[in-house]
Amino acid sequence: MIGIGVIGYGYWGPNLVRNFYETPDCEVVAVSDLREKQLARVRSRYPTIGTTTDYRDLLNNPRIDAVVVATPVHTHFDLAMQALRAGKNVLVEKPMTMDVDQAQRLVDEAERRRLILAVDHTFVFTSAVRKIRDLSLNGDLGDIYYYDSVRVNLGLFQHDVNVIWDLAVHDLAIMDFILPAQPVAVSATGISHVPGEPENMAYVTMYFDSRVMAHVHVNWLAPVKVRRTLIGGSKKMIVYDDLEPSEKIRVYDKGITLATDPAANGNGERYAMMVNYRTGDVWSPQLDITTEALSLELRHFVGCIRDNTTPIVDGHAGLRVVRLLEAATESMRLSGRPVDLAANRCTV
Ligand SMILES: NC(=O)c1ccc[n+]([C@@H]2O[C@H](COP(=O)([O-])OP(=O)(O)OC[C@H]3O[C@@H](n4cnc5c(N)ncnc54)[C@H](O)[C@@H]3O)[C@@H](O)[C@H]2O)c1
Repeated sequence: MIGIGVIGYGYWGPNLVRNFYETPDCEVVAVSDLREKQLARVRSRYPTIGTTTDYRDLLNNPRIDAVVVATPVHTHFDLAMQALRAGKNVLVEKPMTMDVDQAQRLVDEAERRRLILAVDHTFVFTSAVRKIRDLSLNGDLGDIYYYDSVRVNLGLFQHDVNVIWDLAVHDLAIMDFILPAQPVAVSATGISHVPGEPENMAYVTMYFDSRVMAHVHVNWLAPVKVRRTLIGGSKKMIVYDDLEPSEKIRVYDKGITLATDPAANGNGERYAMMVNYRTGDVWSPQLDITTEALSLELRHFVGCIRDNTTPIVDGHAGLRVVRLLEAATESMRLSGRPVDLAANRCTV
């Protein structure tokens, strides 16, 4: 039985506790939050789970094998590092840390101590994203041309991170999972409409060594909620709408074929490229939406601890995403100037 301790019982923590509570082979031993009111909620719903306002009680508890960090982003590094140093496996919320250096240090610490370090990139465990990855890997989409996403809604304004770290992080995690290559440069523009607060809307563009391009538009100040991604391939294209209750993915057998224009050649003109449009069927793959993504993820995390295997979203994946977030924020500071991601660091 793997003992779990959860630090942070605000908005997301209750989802983690609920899903761990129902996960086989593990037991939620204790929850920590600074707010006594939150802990009272834990006790009334789960009388067997211990509660404390001092997270160090979790680190010192020998029954706890893994600590989950579900606190605001600026606290992730310190709490996760202390948990690793106390010999605990760690699942840390997205985004993993506030910067690349912190993420690298957590990766190194976990490797040195041979502990499991996982990052909660929940979307990676959704049936929709897994299906997109399958379609990409088995060649159904052909060469991927672009990833183009809109992720906007009204709220929740964060105080410690800008909207890229809060919302675009999901797209970067999805891209990290489904695209065959990593971006080589990123450019971003954004703005804050609340004086003294982080940017609440942003446009992030990512460039690759190939003909792939990615763009993510995020906004906390939109009148409607949109979660819509287009993924264009040379053979097929996908519309992924996460707000659709069942048909979250539609696969379009549409595209273009290129040919040279023989008429143009006959007249002695230089070859003209003709673009022909191909329109075929549209289908919506069957997805298993009965099991919550977070439940699958937590089962996987517990299994990794039990079997000593590497998580699908390990510290390295968390670090790759933080590297992009850091570079995007740097580019935003430079009014959209592209930031190079080569050599695993951001150089302007
Ligand atoms: N994976 C997802 O889809 C997803 C969704 C929402 C939030 N998140 C992430 O979860 C994390 C928490 O977000 P939230 O919206 O729940 O924030 P929140 O502010 O609602 O809750 C954070 C809680 O942590 C507690 N806390 C802070 N410092 C603490 C400490 N030292 N010891 C004990 N408790 C402490 C606070 O009292 C608060 O109750 C963030 O990193 C966020 O990005 C992930």
